[in-house]
Amino acid sequence: MLIKNSSDIKSSDITDESVYLRRREFMQTTAGIALLPFVKMVAAKTEETLPYIKNAGLSSKEKLTDYSAITTYNNFYEFGTDKESPAKYAGRLTTSPWSIVIDGEVNKPGRYQLEDILNPHTLEERIYRLRCVERWSMVVPWIGFSLADLIKRFEPTSRAKYVQFTTLHRPAEMIGQQRGVLQWPYVEGLRIDEAMNPLTMLAVGLYGKVMPNQNGAPIRLVVPWKYGFKSIKSIVRISFIEKEPPTSWNLSAPSEYGFYSNVNPDVDHPRWSQRKERRIGEFLRRNSLMYNGYEEQVAHLYKGMDLKKYY
Ligand code: MTE
Repeated sequence: MLIKNSSDIKSSDITDESVYLRRREFMQTTAGIALLPFVKMVAAKTEETLPYIKNAGLSSKEKLTDYSAITTYNNFYEFGTDKESPAKYAGRLTTSPWSIVIDGEVNKPGRYQLEDILNPHTLEERIYRLRCVERWSMVVPWIGFSLADLIKRFEPTSRAKYVQFTTLHRPAEMIGQQRGVLQWPYVEGLRIDEAMNPLTMLAVGLYGKVMPNQNGAPIRLVVPWKYGFKSIKSIVRISFIEKEPPTSWNLSAPSEYGFYSNVNPDVDHPRWSQRKERRIGEFLRRNSLMYNGYEEQVAHLYKGMDLKKYY
């Protein structure tokens, strides 16, 4: 990422952060409950637990990263460019009511309330790694459901070759948007087959609780075989389109960040190698894995592509 100085955030911009800092450590929630009372969930506070079922088949068996690290070491440029700002400033973001616009090449376009977006879906816990291009990684117990299930409901047409995602643009609450460190709103995209892969997830919580604002409340993407920056937060629009969409990091630094952004230890970032990573909470660096360890499930999506060109 482009690390920039955040020292020009005024102290008058500092909001009450007490709600968002230093949460309790992992609380085991009751597994086996399928359906969620969504209206209640949307109105819920971040500390509130969510019912979910475990998806062991899709889950990593690695040691979980601490809740406190996952929620205080964040990238969310809408709240500042350093790792600490999201936990400090995201508390002022209003996440309810929340709606998502579905548009483009789709049979059922419209503006849908979050409750209606979520209602038919069973929430699952999936333990996925998140690997950042900055060479750190975490193991997170996300709560959510497959993006593919949502896409099927809205019936994309045969012209829908890509899916574009857009983050909320609300500078009054997202103080990082008051500065031009990126083009706002933040946008990301996937090819339709990447979006339909069963691993691709829309997440509404982690560690059994409603998604903390700094992690992308109320709903974010998680694409576990790609660098973290593809996993766009606080989504307000999902568009089905014919042409490859622009993505925020590619717009910002095209020579450093391509559209595909797959974890690929063989393709160096122009300013550093991608061979190793530091798992948050560990001392020694470990080798980074092709597609972040999800090669078996996703390598077929990129068969025949020159991965040095399509980085
Ligand atoms: N989404 C938005 N809207 N804005 C951002 O700055 N940062 C990305 C991604 N999603 C980002 C975003 C980056 S660089 C990473 S590494 C992950 O979010 C970090 O997710 P986490 O804070 O939950 O660990």
